[in-house]
Amino acid sequence: MKDGFGREIDYLRVSLTDRCNLRCVYCMPMHGLTFVPNPELLSADELEKVVRAAVEVGFKKIRLTGGEPTLRQDVVDIVERFHRIDGIEQVVMTTNGYRLPYIADDLARAGLTRVNIHVDSLNKETISKIMRLGSFDKAWAGIEAAEKAGLTPIKLNAVITRGYNDDAAVEMSRLTLTKPWQIRFIELMPFAGPTEIQLEHYVSSDEVKSRIERELGPLFDVNGGELEGEARVYRLAGAEGTVGFISPVSNSYCDGCNRLRLTADGRVRLCLLSDKEIDFRATLRHGGTHQDLVELFKRAIRTKPVGHQLKNGVFAENRTMSQIGG
Ligand code: GTP
Ligand code: 5AD
Ligand code: SF4
Repeated sequence: MKDGFGREIDYLRVSLTDRCNLRCVYCMPMHGLTFVPNPELLSADELEKVVRAAVEVGFKKIRLTGGEPTLRQDVVDIVERFHRIDGIEQVVMTTNGYRLPYIADDLARAGLTRVNIHVDSLNKETISKIMRLGSFDKAWAGIEAAEKAGLTPIKLNAVITRGYNDDAAVEMSRLTLTKPWQIRFIELMPFAGPTEIQLEHYVSSDEVKSRIERELGPLFDVNGGELEGEARVYRLAGAEGTVGFISPVSNSYCDGCNRLRLTADGRVRLCLLSDKEIDFRATLRHGGTHQDLVELFKRAIRTKPVGHQLKNGVFAENRTMSQIGG
């Protein structure tokens, strides 16, 4: 179904939990964040009902997010339920990868198509600084487990932040010479709230790209300037993999936005960077029918805002990134 600005909305990002085993500086505070109590999270049954309604209005791609989605004990069951729904073409996941060595095979068997793995550097000290409870060895084991399970093509996501991992992009891009991965650098997005760092640590994609090119040579455009999802994609000469830039701040891609988000506590969020939400959980828990959920989705799509307002200083105020799922 098309929204009020002619965009086909067919991609639903489903947050399974707001909890995470890490505390990346730009995403979560180290202490003091309260989590949604388990009874307030949508259950696997409720999630399935929401996705069945989503399919009816034309959603085809579901991404599981968090916090960290693999912390849900029933994550494999949830993948299987979504995969079985006629009309869902892809069930994918964004994860920090730490639990993948234990569950990647089960996820693949349940129908997960591929994973994007979040890791901000290849350097142990840098990872401890920016992802705090993070560990390079665990991230790497997760990436290897995903590859072995066939959850490919693999994409790695890194948020580049000044003073933490400015130099990570060169080292990570070098990996694409030998690995068939897409390594994407994301611009820091400001969120009002209790995260440790805000916009003063922002580094533009242009700056990151220049730095990579200075050290490793030219990056060649892969899609003739067309976005792949929200990323601009390039390749180093002779490389197996690609380098992508996600630039919500310097070069917003709202015109091509095709997504809505379901938060772990059952709200559909109309734009990552705006506080507008519709409460699906209330409908689910007060006897709402399948058709009621379908109508809520239609309303969500009809009222999706044209784009974010960062340039005018309008930030999302009511949630951290970990509560939305990126
Ligand atoms: P693909 O299906 O592989 O293209 O994945 P994806 O890029 O849609 O999902 P992923 O979770 O890997 O997203 C990477 C990051 O891009 C997110 O964590 C966000 O930081 C950012 N991002 C994703 N969607 C949006 C969006 O709609 N708006 C903005 N501003 N940023 C987004
Ligand atoms: N800016 C940009 N991306 C962020 N993420 C978390 N916080 C931010 C932020 N402030 C992204 C990470 C992760 C996902 C959950 O959200 O890349 O993959
Ligand atoms: Fe956890 Fe991802 Fe947020 Fe890091 S960015 S704290 S891994 S949800």
